[in-house]
Amino acid sequence: MNALQEAVHSAERPWPQILLLEDETSVARGLQMILDEEGYRAVDLALSGQAALDTFHRKEVDLLIADLRLPDIDGLEVIRQVKHDRPDTGVIVITGYSTVDSAVAAMKLGAKDYLSKPFSEDEFVSAVKGALVPKKASAPEAAHPMPAPELPAAPLEPDLHLTREDPDRIDRLLADLRRQFAGRPDEVIPMLQMVQGRLGYLPENALDAIARLTGRSAAAVFGTATFYEQFRLAPVGRHIVRVCRGTACHVKGSDRILEEIRQRFELSPGETSPDRQFTLETVACFGSCAIAPVVVVDDSVKGRMNPASACRCFADIREQERIPIPERPEEE
Ligand code: FES
Repeated sequence: MNALQEAVHSAERPWPQILLLEDETSVARGLQMILDEEGYRAVDLALSGQAALDTFHRKEVDLLIADLRLPDIDGLEVIRQVKHDRPDTGVIVITGYSTVDSAVAAMKLGAKDYLSKPFSEDEFVSAVKGALVPKKASAPEAAHPMPAPELPAAPLEPDLHLTREDPDRIDRLLADLRRQFAGRPDEVIPMLQMVQGRLGYLPENALDAIARLTGRSAAAVFGTATFYEQFRLAPVGRHIVRVCRGTACHVKGSDRILEEIRQRFELSPGETSPDRQFTLETVACFGSCAIAPVVVVDDSVKGRMNPASACRCFADIREQERIPIPERPEEE
């Protein structure tokens, strides 16, 4: 039994009650399986906004995980009604149509986290834990409709090699942040999301700038950036390759694809190649299970892949960019 399962067992109520609002059945089932594997057994699925509200009014809900684009009610409206009726309900947004505006709106409504699809299994689990765990120890939080996440301040270690961006670029970004935000302490997360959306990662001088804008300490901003797995402190590769590890893709061999990439290109999930050509990631489900196993190279979705065709994607890009392609290692 892992730590979370122990915590769940020892809690007054047997399980945190989670309501998952997601209109794509395959994505909903995949996320439900992840939650089940993590020890969260009380998960209700709702495929529409109205169904979510009906469930919410019928029973206790500790955490609402909500898609935004739904067939009936706007997801933000569902969140607004939920937070209005029971402000202490945790909320995580999951969306395939992320925008700075919707991120800001969600955080203003009190969402604890905002995940852009596709997100990794680790990002999802981390967001769920982050939304549920602090709730027990944060009684004063409910008094504030827009709580600033109080995360442990992390010291900026001198031997941690954070990357600094061109100061002119940061100045331009800072001007945009000033236009977009009021500079309140509770705007740290949407600011981090905006910077990462522009640069692909969070450079040290951007963290400093956000600290100055919001009046938080640099250590507190750094602590927030390292707490959430959606944020990166290192630059990503010029090409991002995402391999799906959802159930359908796993059954059809996504692990073999990852192993072949690891052997041939010395790249494991979460890593960026030393020449910054590739970053390899895994995701829980792209919602394209019918063509599993799925690999997405930058924005191009490739279905029915196998280890050879997946490696061919890397090789094609290397050929186009005239970088030598590593030979396949000899079988032992
Ligand atoms: S499991 Fe759904 S796309 Fe891979």
